[in-house]
Amino acid sequence: MKKRVLVTGGAGYIGSHTAVELIEAGYDVVVADDLSNAEMTAVEGVRRITGAEVPFVKADCSDPAQLFPIFEQYPVDAVIHFAAFKAVGESVHKPLDYYRNNLSLLITVLEAMRKYGVENIVFSSSCTVYGQADVLPVTEQTPRKEAESPYGNTKKMCEDILRDSVKAYPGLKGIALRYFNPIGAHPSALIGELPRGVPNNLVPYVTQTAAGLREQLSVFGDDYNTPDGSCLRDYIDVVDLARAHVAAIGRMVGGRSKAPYEIFNVGTGRPVSVLELVHTFEKVNGVKVNYKIVGRRAGDIEAVWADTSYANSELGWKAEKSLEETLAGAWNWEKHRRGIE
Ligand code: UFG
Repeated sequence: MKKRVLVTGGAGYIGSHTAVELIEAGYDVVVADDLSNAEMTAVEGVRRITGAEVPFVKADCSDPAQLFPIFEQYPVDAVIHFAAFKAVGESVHKPLDYYRNNLSLLITVLEAMRKYGVENIVFSSSCTVYGQADVLPVTEQTPRKEAESPYGNTKKMCEDILRDSVKAYPGLKGIALRYFNPIGAHPSALIGELPRGVPNNLVPYVTQTAAGLREQLSVFGDDYNTPDGSCLRDYIDVVDLARAHVAAIGRMVGGRSKAPYEIFNVGTGRPVSVLELVHTFEKVNGVKVNYKIVGRRAGDIEAVWADTSYANSELGWKAEKSLEETLAGAWNWEKHRRGIE
């Protein structure tokens, strides 16, 4: 019997790529998304890539009246819970929106799972929970620090809600995946990141600058204590990241979890600086990225990258794509969207 997975936020950037990888790994997928920060074109892209029907329900999953009927209509074996607000800067100005939305989404999903007897959930967490760690790279045992933003705090609080829930409710299992910096797009260029307005994140800003939509990329700071002075991050290809979800689901539904609540770092283990990323993008794609060095961005941490050995050995998963391949994919997606040749 095929297992079925509900993907909340499945029309979003990571959710849509994960839906593809799940289907290609032999799962049935149901996508729920309120489309508040996502487009139907992503769901259509998933359908085109996989040739699968992929049921889609437009729903605000924080509302039981909208979420519970999905569980009624589509009995599932597991949930991957992506749906959340995710703009770090916005969360500073709208903390209550972020706390209400992100916390009530997870709580409602867990309540639905209890009601309908669904025992497996993967939660989208973030390396933001580590803050500026004292020792790098970070392992899953690295202490979490005080969050830098309400957004980051919702990730921490949701991890705790999940941890406490699996402790309290027999049978329930959860895996929190702590994402590092997801970038790139599906090699088909049918799905990718769809930032609304001016991008906050580095790679969409780079691709839009190369495409001429933005005049100039600002590189936030070259006076950090790093080899070239710009910040270090662990940029992971979104398809590699999507496959980590498939591995996590397989672990849970296959009964291989070692504890009811588990945490994995999902990164490459390779620190890359902002300047290195920009220069690699230029070289791989043969385009110029007009940039200038400006002051530091408030709230940025200097450096973070993952120790991925636990995820590698326990999930049997490893990030495989090179930075070059990923940045070529990112550019391909931008060109495809804009009709650039
Ligand atoms: N950067 C620039 N110019 C830009 C945008 C970004 O120089 O226009 C730099 C940033 O200063 C940082 C790096 O590029 O050094 C990466 O920045 P992103 O905004 O792409 O990513 P962050 O690491 O700041 O944030 C990401 C996710 C968050 C998550 C956080 C955890 O977007 O969801 O990682 O550290 F919380």
